[in-house]
Amino acid sequence: MQFTYYGHACFSVVVNGKTLLFDPFITYNELAKSIHVDEIPADYILLSHGHEDHVADVKRIAERTKAKIVSNFEIVTWFQKQGLENGHPMNTGGKWTFDFGTVKCVVAQHSSVLPDGTNGGNPMGFIIDGGEGKAFYYAGDTALTMDMKLIPHFCPHLTTALLPIGDNFTMGMDDAALAAEFCGARKVVGLHYDTFGYIKIDHNKAKVTFGEKEIELLLPSIGETIEL
Ligand code: NI
Ligand code: MN
Repeated sequence: MQFTYYGHACFSVVVNGKTLLFDPFITYNELAKSIHVDEIPADYILLSHGHEDHVADVKRIAERTKAKIVSNFEIVTWFQKQGLENGHPMNTGGKWTFDFGTVKCVVAQHSSVLPDGTNGGNPMGFIIDGGEGKAFYYAGDTALTMDMKLIPHFCPHLTTALLPIGDNFTMGMDDAALAAEFCGARKVVGLHYDTFGYIKIDHNKAKVTFGEKEIELLLPSIGETIEL
Protein backbone atom coordinates (compact mmCIF):
# COMPACT_ATOMS: atom_id res chain seq x y z
CA MET A 1 0.00 0.00 0.00
CA GLN A 2 1.32 3.41 -1.00
CA PHE A 3 1.28 5.82 1.97
CA THR A 4 1.84 9.59 1.61
CA TYR A 5 2.29 11.85 4.65
CA TYR A 6 0.84 15.38 4.54
CA GLY A 7 1.74 16.35 8.11
CA HIS A 8 0.03 16.13 11.53
CA ALA A 9 -2.61 13.36 11.24
CA CYS A 10 -3.18 13.82 7.50
CA PHE A 11 -2.10 11.11 5.08
CA SER A 12 -3.36 9.11 2.17
CA VAL A 13 -3.19 5.39 1.46
CA VAL A 14 -3.88 3.81 -1.92
CA VAL A 15 -5.94 0.64 -1.41
CA ASN A 16 -6.87 -1.45 -4.45
CA GLY A 17 -6.45 1.55 -6.74
CA LYS A 18 -8.49 4.03 -4.68
CA THR A 19 -6.92 6.94 -2.81
CA LEU A 20 -8.14 7.26 0.77
CA LEU A 21 -7.29 10.62 2.35
CA PHE A 22 -7.52 10.96 6.13
CA ASP A 23 -8.05 14.01 8.38
CA PRO A 24 -6.89 16.83 6.07
CA PHE A 25 -5.20 19.69 7.94
CA ILE A 26 -2.62 21.36 5.72
CA THR A 27 -3.36 25.07 5.12
CA TYR A 28 -2.96 25.97 8.80
CA ASN A 29 -0.06 23.59 9.46
CA GLU A 30 3.15 25.63 9.60
CA LEU A 31 5.17 22.45 8.98
CA ALA A 32 3.26 21.54 5.79
CA LYS A 33 4.01 24.66 3.70
CA SER A 34 5.59 22.46 0.99
CA ILE A 35 2.28 20.64 0.35
CA HIS A 36 0.02 21.94 -2.42
CA VAL A 37 -3.50 21.38 -1.09
CA ASP A 38 -5.03 21.76 -4.55
CA GLU A 39 -2.98 18.88 -5.95
CA ILE A 40 -3.82 16.24 -3.34
CA PRO A 41 -5.74 13.35 -4.90
CA ALA A 42 -8.67 11.72 -3.10
CA ASP A 43 -11.44 9.27 -3.96
CA TYR A 44 -12.54 9.10 -0.31
CA ILE A 45 -11.98 11.43 2.64
CA LEU A 46 -12.19 9.67 6.00
CA LEU A 47 -12.57 11.78 9.13
CA SER A 48 -11.87 10.39 12.60
CA HIS A 49 -13.53 13.27 14.49
CA GLY A 50 -14.62 16.90 14.20
CA HIS A 51 -11.65 18.87 15.54
CA GLU A 52 -10.24 21.61 13.33
CA ASP A 53 -6.82 19.96 13.10
CA HIS A 54 -8.56 17.03 11.31
CA VAL A 55 -11.17 18.73 9.10
CA ALA A 56 -9.77 22.17 8.15
CA ASP A 57 -9.16 21.38 4.45
CA VAL A 58 -12.05 18.97 3.81
CA LYS A 59 -14.28 21.47 1.96
CA ARG A 60 -11.51 22.70 -0.34
CA ILE A 61 -10.35 19.19 -1.27
CA ALA A 62 -13.82 17.62 -1.51
CA GLU A 63 -15.17 20.37 -3.78
CA ARG A 64 -12.32 19.78 -6.25
CA THR A 65 -12.04 15.97 -6.11
CA LYS A 66 -15.74 15.15 -5.46
CA ALA A 67 -14.40 12.57 -2.99
CA LYS A 68 -16.90 10.73 -0.79
CA ILE A 69 -16.73 11.84 2.86
CA VAL A 70 -16.80 8.90 5.29
CA SER A 71 -17.21 9.71 8.97
CA ASN A 72 -19.75 9.55 11.76
CA PHE A 73 -23.35 10.66 11.09
CA GLU A 74 -22.95 14.09 12.73
CA ILE A 75 -19.84 15.05 10.76
CA VAL A 76 -21.15 13.79 7.39
CA THR A 77 -24.42 15.70 7.97
CA TRP A 78 -22.49 18.89 8.88
CA PHE A 79 -20.63 18.75 5.57
CA GLN A 80 -23.81 17.91 3.62
CA LYS A 81 -25.37 21.12 4.99
CA GLN A 82 -22.41 22.96 3.44
CA GLY A 83 -23.18 21.48 0.02
CA LEU A 84 -20.89 18.44 0.12
CA GLU A 85 -23.61 15.91 -0.64
CA ASN A 86 -21.33 12.95 -1.36
CA GLY A 87 -21.09 11.42 2.09
CA HIS A 88 -21.38 8.03 3.78
CA PRO A 89 -22.46 8.26 7.43
CA MET A 90 -21.30 5.55 9.83
CA ASN A 91 -20.88 5.14 13.57
CA THR A 92 -18.78 3.22 16.07
CA GLY A 93 -19.03 -0.56 15.66
CA GLY A 94 -20.30 -0.31 12.10
CA LYS A 95 -18.70 -1.85 9.04
CA TRP A 96 -19.37 -1.21 5.35
CA THR A 97 -18.00 -2.64 2.11
CA PHE A 98 -16.78 0.02 -0.34
CA ASP A 99 -15.21 -0.59 -3.78
CA PHE A 100 -11.68 -0.71 -2.26
CA GLY A 101 -12.52 -2.98 0.70
CA THR A 102 -14.17 -2.64 4.10
CA VAL A 103 -14.17 0.10 6.69
CA LYS A 104 -14.93 -0.80 10.28
CA CYS A 105 -15.38 2.04 12.77
CA VAL A 106 -13.87 1.38 16.18
CA VAL A 107 -13.76 3.15 19.52
CA ALA A 108 -11.49 6.15 20.07
CA GLN A 109 -11.25 7.76 23.49
CA HIS A 110 -11.21 11.50 22.75
CA SER A 111 -13.70 14.34 22.04
CA SER A 112 -15.19 15.60 18.77
CA VAL A 113 -16.78 19.07 18.61
CA LEU A 114 -16.80 20.67 15.12
CA PRO A 115 -15.04 24.03 14.44
CA ASP A 116 -18.29 26.09 14.75
CA GLY A 117 -19.28 24.39 18.03
CA THR A 118 -21.66 21.83 16.44
CA ASN A 119 -21.73 18.43 18.14
CA GLY A 120 -19.30 16.27 16.16
CA GLY A 121 -20.61 12.93 17.46
CA ASN A 122 -18.21 10.38 18.87
CA PRO A 123 -14.58 10.15 17.75
CA MET A 124 -13.64 6.95 15.90
CA GLY A 125 -10.74 4.91 14.63
CA PHE A 126 -10.91 2.93 11.38
CA ILE A 127 -9.87 -0.56 10.33
CA ILE A 128 -9.39 -0.51 6.58
CA ASP A 129 -9.27 -3.97 5.02
CA GLY A 130 -8.52 -4.38 1.34
CA GLY A 131 -7.48 -8.01 1.80
CA GLU A 132 -4.30 -9.79 2.97
CA GLY A 133 -1.34 -7.35 3.00
CA LYS A 134 -3.71 -4.42 2.45
CA ALA A 135 -5.13 -3.87 5.93
CA PHE A 136 -4.33 -1.22 8.50
CA TYR A 137 -5.71 0.42 11.62
CA TYR A 138 -5.84 4.21 11.89
CA ALA A 139 -6.51 5.06 15.53
CA GLY A 140 -7.51 8.72 15.08
CA ASP A 141 -6.94 10.89 18.15
CA THR A 142 -7.25 8.57 21.12
CA ALA A 143 -5.97 7.46 24.46
CA LEU A 144 -4.75 3.91 24.85
CA THR A 145 -7.85 1.80 25.47
CA MET A 146 -8.56 -1.85 26.18
CA ASP A 147 -10.93 -1.79 23.19
CA MET A 148 -7.82 -2.01 20.97
CA LYS A 149 -7.49 -5.65 22.07
CA LEU A 150 -10.57 -6.37 19.93
CA ILE A 151 -8.81 -5.30 16.74
CA PRO A 152 -7.03 -8.65 16.10
CA HIS A 153 -10.45 -10.31 16.39
CA PHE A 154 -11.94 -7.91 13.84
CA CYS A 155 -8.99 -8.24 11.43
CA PRO A 156 -6.60 -11.16 12.16
CA HIS A 157 -4.25 -10.41 9.22
CA LEU A 158 -3.64 -6.80 10.28
CA THR A 159 0.04 -5.96 10.91
CA THR A 160 0.17 -2.20 10.31
CA ALA A 161 -1.12 0.60 12.54
CA LEU A 162 -1.13 4.37 12.17
CA LEU A 163 -1.06 5.80 15.68
CA PRO A 164 -0.83 9.19 17.39
CA ILE A 165 2.37 9.44 19.41
CA GLY A 166 2.58 13.14 20.37
CA ASP A 167 1.12 12.92 23.90
CA ASN A 168 -0.79 15.75 25.67
CA PHE A 169 -3.93 15.54 23.43
CA THR A 170 -3.60 11.80 22.60
CA MET A 171 -1.49 8.78 23.50
CA GLY A 172 2.20 9.40 23.88
CA MET A 173 4.87 7.04 22.56
CA ASP A 174 4.83 4.63 25.54
CA ASP A 175 1.07 4.08 25.38
CA ALA A 176 1.17 3.94 21.58
CA ALA A 177 3.77 1.13 21.68
CA LEU A 178 1.38 -0.79 23.95
CA ALA A 179 -1.49 0.01 21.57
CA ALA A 180 0.54 -1.54 18.75
CA GLU A 181 0.87 -4.72 20.82
CA PHE A 182 -2.86 -4.73 21.59
CA CYS A 183 -3.82 -4.50 17.92
CA GLY A 184 -1.18 -6.93 16.63
CA ALA A 185 0.84 -4.40 14.62
CA ARG A 186 4.51 -5.06 13.82
CA LYS A 187 4.83 -1.85 11.81
CA VAL A 188 3.62 1.57 13.02
CA VAL A 189 3.51 4.98 11.36
CA GLY A 190 3.63 7.75 13.97
CA LEU A 191 1.18 10.65 13.61
CA HIS A 192 -0.01 13.75 15.53
CA TYR A 193 3.42 14.90 16.76
CA ASP A 194 5.66 18.01 16.38
CA THR A 195 2.89 20.20 14.85
CA PHE A 196 2.40 22.33 17.98
CA GLY A 197 4.56 23.04 21.04
CA TYR A 198 2.54 20.68 23.24
CA ILE A 199 3.25 17.66 21.04
CA LYS A 200 6.93 18.00 20.10
CA ILE A 201 8.72 14.67 20.55
CA ASP A 202 12.22 13.17 20.52
CA HIS A 203 12.24 11.03 17.35
CA ASN A 204 15.09 8.76 18.46
CA LYS A 205 13.46 8.11 21.82
CA ALA A 206 10.24 7.17 20.00
CA LYS A 207 12.04 4.68 17.73
CA VAL A 208 13.79 3.11 20.74
CA THR A 209 10.47 2.88 22.66
CA PHE A 210 8.87 0.87 19.83
CA GLY A 211 12.11 -0.99 19.07
CA GLU A 212 12.18 -2.42 22.60
CA LYS A 213 8.94 -4.21 21.71
CA GLU A 214 10.35 -5.28 18.32
CA ILE A 215 7.94 -2.98 16.53
CA GLU A 216 9.18 -0.88 13.63
CA LEU A 217 8.28 2.81 13.95
CA LEU A 218 8.21 4.81 10.72
CA LEU A 219 8.33 8.62 10.85
CA PRO A 220 8.16 9.70 7.19
CA SER A 221 8.85 13.36 6.34
CA ILE A 222 6.01 15.61 5.26
CA GLY A 223 5.45 15.06 1.53
CA GLU A 224 7.19 11.66 1.57
CA THR A 225 5.60 8.58 0.02
CA ILE A 226 6.49 5.14 1.38
CA GLU A 227 5.32 1.58 0.83
CA LEU A 228 3.52 0.14 3.87
NI1 NI B 1 -8.66 15.92 18.31
MN1 MN C 1 -5.99 16.30 16.85
